[in-house]
Amino acid sequence: MIRIPFNRPFATGDEIDYIRAAIATPKLSGDGSFTAECHRLLEQSLGAQKALLTTSCTHALEMAALLLNIGSGDEVIVPSFTFPSAANAFVLRGAKPVFVDIRADTLNIDESQIEQRITARTKAIFLVHYAGVACEMETIMAIARKHAIPVVEDNAHGLYGKYRARYLGTFGQLATLSFHETKNFSCGEGGALLINDAQFNQRAEIIREKGTDRSRFFRGEVDKYNWTDVGSSYLPSELLAAFLRAQLEHRDQIQESRRRIWEKYARELATWAETNRVRLPVVPPECEQSYHMFHVIMPSLASRQALISHLAGFGILAVFHYLPLHLSPMGVRFGGRQGDCPVTEDLSDRLLRFPFFTGMSSSEQSQVIDAVRAFRCQTGDV
Ligand SMILES: Cc1ncc(COP(=O)(O)O)c(C=O)c1O
Repeated sequence: MIRIPFNRPFATGDEIDYIRAAIATPKLSGDGSFTAECHRLLEQSLGAQKALLTTSCTHALEMAALLLNIGSGDEVIVPSFTFPSAANAFVLRGAKPVFVDIRADTLNIDESQIEQRITARTKAIFLVHYAGVACEMETIMAIARKHAIPVVEDNAHGLYGKYRARYLGTFGQLATLSFHETKNFSCGEGGALLINDAQFNQRAEIIREKGTDRSRFFRGEVDKYNWTDVGSSYLPSELLAAFLRAQLEHRDQIQESRRRIWEKYARELATWAETNRVRLPVVPPECEQSYHMFHVIMPSLASRQALISHLAGFGILAVFHYLPLHLSPMGVRFGGRQGDCPVTEDLSDRLLRFPFFTGMSSSEQSQVIDAVRAFRCQTGDV
């Protein structure tokens, strides 16, 4: 039986009041006052030009692919070590993923391998700030500028993380956020598109509103709304925005709770990690992380699996991700082969994530730490 889950959704207490308030308004569908307030909170706190709530990060990624007119025959550069949604967003449009390996330290796309993968067909770079620790954005943005290729930051993990004192999600032309229940800020399922280039503003509203100019109609700018472009239904209801508003307003409390948990893991597992040749997360000095997760790199697949079983014996759920995209059934259909991304292939077998969630009690965390410290890697592994 699981006593300490991997994730437990956190509520600040204000969510229910805001949901009641939303019910009392005449508008429960999208883009009412709670959505507007979430947009304002995100834009002002990040210094982003425009934020649009979406029903998920997956949908925000799909909007990005539509906005960039990605289509059949195009190529998009993406790390193999990421969530399938990043690739599906442009595969749905008929484009082909070009997988790039990751850096062994941050598990982010290896910026030194990007330029050699750019061809005349490359339409975008979709990157992810893994664990809310920034990719090497200076180098990546310089390559993107040189080749005039737009960058989409999948910032599902990294809301309020920074690179060289600037918030993640404000570098690429477009960026996405996730408010799934496992993320720092949540409304169960949800996301946002951040637009850092105003040329996309109007079309993004249309794509998000079923390909119509309904947003302009609601603002009284046109007297009827019409089908004007491709699009889908990407806006969440006011009930979700009401929940999310409470979370965004408690930014300091949430981030402080997560910072304390992350630092306790790092501090109290340091000796165990060294003795067992386990690698703790790496946060380069130019990065301020978002405290999204705590992961370790075990010496081998066997030791990773053994630690999962060991922790399960204490009722503790530890999990891993991502399976390399280039070796997945879909990745193989795009020509992915063993050995294409050796760092991804190696680290994906050895990565393990410990329980980590806002409001995790000190006693719960100590139980995890004690159980981890009781684990010894086999001599062959060390
Ligand atoms: C890096 C990354 N991108 C996108 C997603 C998809 O997010 P959502 O569930 O909000 O669609 C995830 C999900 O965990 C993720 O880890």
